[in-house]
Amino acid sequence: MPFEIIRADITKLSVDAIVNAANASLLGGGGVDGAIHRAAGPALLAECRTLNGCLTGEAKITKGYQLPAKYVIHTVGPIWEGGEKGEAKLLKSCYVQSLNLAVAHKLESIAFPLISSGAYGYPKDQALQMAITVISDFLMHNDMMIYLVVYDQKAFVLSEKLFASVQAFIDLHYVEEHALFNQRRFEKIRSCVTESQHEYKPSRSLDDVMQELQETFSEHLLRLIDLKGKTDVETYKRANIDRRLFSKIRSDKYYKPSKNTVLSLAIALELNLDETKDILQKAGYALSRSSRFDVIIEYFINEGNYDIFEINETLFAFEKTTLGV
Ligand code: APR
Repeated sequence: MPFEIIRADITKLSVDAIVNAANASLLGGGGVDGAIHRAAGPALLAECRTLNGCLTGEAKITKGYQLPAKYVIHTVGPIWEGGEKGEAKLLKSCYVQSLNLAVAHKLESIAFPLISSGAYGYPKDQALQMAITVISDFLMHNDMMIYLVVYDQKAFVLSEKLFASVQAFIDLHYVEEHALFNQRRFEKIRSCVTESQHEYKPSRSLDDVMQELQETFSEHLLRLIDLKGKTDVETYKRANIDRRLFSKIRSDKYYKPSKNTVLSLAIALELNLDETKDILQKAGYALSRSSRFDVIIEYFINEGNYDIFEINETLFAFEKTTLGV
């Protein structure tokens, strides 16, 4: 999955580069800066001394030394002074400049901490939103594996309103599973009785129905992409799935995707609940009320909210996992 929010110690990640939330001197400090220098060893500081510091919003690259990461990209975030001093522009620049350096060095994977959200006092929800916005924009036009590392749970705050409405939806649907099962059984019996009283008017020709029944998941997906007027690229980018995975699905009509992949694609194509159930069924899956992951996806589809990064923030908050593979 090209973009993942994870809980980890960034110094332990085996990626091409980790990003350091440094200060202008680039000579080390506390927080993630201190942790990276401790893990990298003294050679990192020696190289940093040759860089003559770094301006806020800028980024510079060094080797990773004793870190599992090959490189460290040092960037200096803005100190929060209330939000009226251009902090957002500078914070955005930290992510953009770091990503530009990664592209220039042909890196395939990078991990960011939540820059400025610690000692520099940037409100964590705004710091998170900025990171997610810049990274998702970048991934619309670039291929790279990007991790956003949330080190402590309190650094991860979902907006109160969204958290409350998702929690209410889970409580209602997730809890009522057994009651809904009985209600469904009653509706099924009732529909058998009433069906015989109405003449059946097929909405689609029998051939259409037979055709769709015989479609594999891959055929069904490609037909939906055409139907929705989307391109392959925008579909897999919006689904937050890897280009290589998508080409496997396109080239193998019998490809069996994971449920997570199917749901990511359903969100990317903005399918309604019935269309989502159809495409899941093509891959041999169904939405389950005994899965909070599925209930959260159902919540967003019901709300007509297909912003995969907001969905991933929510899934991460509730389930510590995200869409996309
Ligand atoms: N792995 C991942 N994230 C971490 C780690 C770690 N090992 N340690 C801390 N963090 C997180 C913090 O929880 C916070 O969310 O990194 C984020 C950034 O916090 P800081 O490290 O305090 O960085 P920042 O707010 O940008 O302040 C920079 O602090 O350490 C000094 O020298 C640094 O002066 C500079 C200032």
